[in-house]
Formats: sequence, C-alpha cells, structure tokens
Amino acid sequence: MVEKKEAVFNPWEVKGNINFDKLVKQFGLKKIEKLPDEFNENVLFRRKTIYAHRDLPRVLTAIKEKKNFAMMTGLMPSGKFHIGHMMVAQQMIFWQNLGAKIYIAVADVESYNARNMSLKEARETAIEEYIKNYAALGLKPKNCHIYFQSNRSKNVEQANAYYRLQNLLARHATFNEFKAVYGSISPGKMIASLLQAADMLHPQLPEFEDKCPVIVPVGIDQDPHLRLARDMSKRIKEYKFDTLASTYHKLMPGLGGGKMSSSDSNSYIALTDTPKEAARKISKYAFSGGKATLEEHRKKGGNPDIDISFQYLKYYFEQDDHELQNIYDDYKSGKLLSGELKKILIDKLKVFLEKHQSKRDKVDVNKFIDN
Ligand code: TRP
Repeated sequence: MVEKKEAVFNPWEVKGNINFDKLVKQFGLKKIEKLPDEFNENVLFRRKTIYAHRDLPRVLTAIKEKKNFAMMTGLMPSGKFHIGHMMVAQQMIFWQNLGAKIYIAVADVESYNARNMSLKEARETAIEEYIKNYAALGLKPKNCHIYFQSNRSKNVEQANAYYRLQNLLARHATFNEFKAVYGSISPGKMIASLLQAADMLHPQLPEFEDKCPVIVPVGIDQDPHLRLARDMSKRIKEYKFDTLASTYHKLMPGLGGGKMSSSDSNSYIALTDTPKEAARKISKYAFSGGKATLEEHRKKGGNPDIDISFQYLKYYFEQDDHELQNIYDDYKSGKLLSGELKKILIDKLKVFLEKHQSKRDKVDVNKFIDN
C-alpha cells in the first residue's frame, strides 16, 4: 500500500508515497481496460490517469442504451483551486457532455467537522475557487445541480428526502465497519461519511432522478466512502438502489514531488496564479529528474518518470501523445535539459492560464447555485 513508515492514507489525510497498483488489490478495485472510443479522446482516460473502477460497465450500458444516468461527486472547499482539483472538474464536464445528469456536493458540513472550517468560509471558498473555475473550464448549468451539504434544497420534499436517507443509512453500518474502513473515527467523521453516502445515493431517490446508474469519479483516497455506501445501500430495505459505480484517478504530485496540498502554495499551481507566478514556482520548486551536471545529463540522460514537469505535461498540459513521447525520449537520452523541459511546461501553462482566466472573469456563478 504505502511505503514509508509515517505514511497515512485515508479519505482525510494522505501522506507518504503511494503505490497505486497495490491500492487496487488492497481495495478490491478493477483496473480500467478497454473503453469506448469517446473515452480515449479524453487525455485522463487515454493515459490511464483514471485507472481503476467499480462497476463502470453499468454506466457504459446506460450510455449505449440511451438510458438516464447521473454523475455524482463532491468537493471539499479548502484553499485555492489548483491543477490537481482540475482533474475532477474535467471529469464532470466529460460526463456532462456524455449526457449525465450532474450532481455536485459542496462538502461544507464535512469541512466543518473534519477541517474546522466555518460554513461561511466554506461557502465563499466553494463559490470563488471551485464553482467559478468549473464554469470557466466548461461546466454548463443545464442539468447540473450544485448544492451545499448544509443546505440541500429550497424544495422541502427534496431536502427531507436527502436528510432522511442520511439518517436511515446509520442503522446499516456497524461501528467496527467504520473503524475498519477509516482507521480512526470520530462522531464528526461518522456524520461526514453518512452524509457522503447520502450524497452519492440520493440522486436515485424518487424526488430526484429515481433509480438509475450513478458514476462517482473520485481520487483513489475516497474509496473507503464508496465501499461503505455500496454496502449500506444493499442492506437498506426501504430503498432500491442501483449499485454505485465509481472511477479512481491517481493523485497529482505536488511541485516538490510529495503531496499537492492546498495549505502549501509552493506545492501547486493555482488556476488563478499569473503565468509569471506559475513560471516562478516551476523554475524554483518543480522536482527535476535531471542529472546534477550538464555533462552528466548529456551523457546519461534524465528520468522523466520522476520529473514533475514531465508528469504535469502527461497529466494534462501536453495533449498530443506523439509530442509527449518525443519529450520523453529526448529527456531520457539527455538531448533535452531540465531547464528546457521546464520551459516547455511554463509555455503551455502560460497559454492555458491566460485563456482560462479571461473565461473565468466572465462567469456568472448564480446560474449554478440555487440556494
Ligand atoms: N469527501 C470528498 C473530498 O474530500 C468530498 C465529497 C463530499 C464527495 N461528498 C461527496 C466526493 C460525494 C464524492 C462524492 O473531496
């Protein structure tokens, strides 16, 4: 699972090296193998950054048969919206374009209980940082429901249905299951995970879409929530749920090679960073897979597999597979130097950030939030 001694890996804390392949075995996930063509147009699927799943074929069938289906995911509002957060946003947009009804939970109750945030601060961060950037990246208000956990809906029937579900789910898990799934658990975390289960399951209530396939795209650290929600959904007799499907993406490394963390601004590129600021961070902090001296680098070549600038190009910023391969080969052979590799990323980011920020300025968030 995790290599270092002090390593921690749970939905609320990730520390140390992560072995993504071992997690698949440990959690009982399936690797994503063959997908319909339209998935391979998306760089995250094509390069297996989204690499594992549970019950994904349920959703693929719904798409093929043109049946109603939903995508449900959530955001924990903390700090700046950075390029690591962008992965989930791109998946929301991808599923929306495939025809999914979109449900997005702002986990303000979770951030209150697990991160000591106030609801007000969580709301402001969610709107300014997350929702505005989602919209600028291409999320459309049509068939898109963004809600706050603390304030589900103005529609009383819908609000009651959501909170009722959360409360009734409680009978269908044991304390030992919580401990086994999460390691350490507190009342606040227990509430947060029952609420997250309600988030994931409630689109299937009659007050919303009714029973239908639901895909939940998340980072692999969130799988414990899915295991518990799937188990509870099978035990609760009052409701009939289609088993939740999910996909898991790898976590984008921070600039220094460790964790990308919203509490350390030198570990990420924010979508509101100026191109100049982004360039500065990459030059100064991006971990390099290059050799110590120019001579040695030319002779022995660099290691793109641990080089953060290369990783970022691979995650998203170089969309052309052929071009990416050239960069890989040139870096490995020593033809391309670390500074030159950084420059490639800096130039790509400049174009991306300028375009993104001008779109972001024009976003009307009110179209997305109804309470
Ligand atoms: N726990 C998630 C996070 O830390 C946020 C979240 C809340 C969520 N509800 C959800 C994710 C439902 C997926 C589905 O980011």
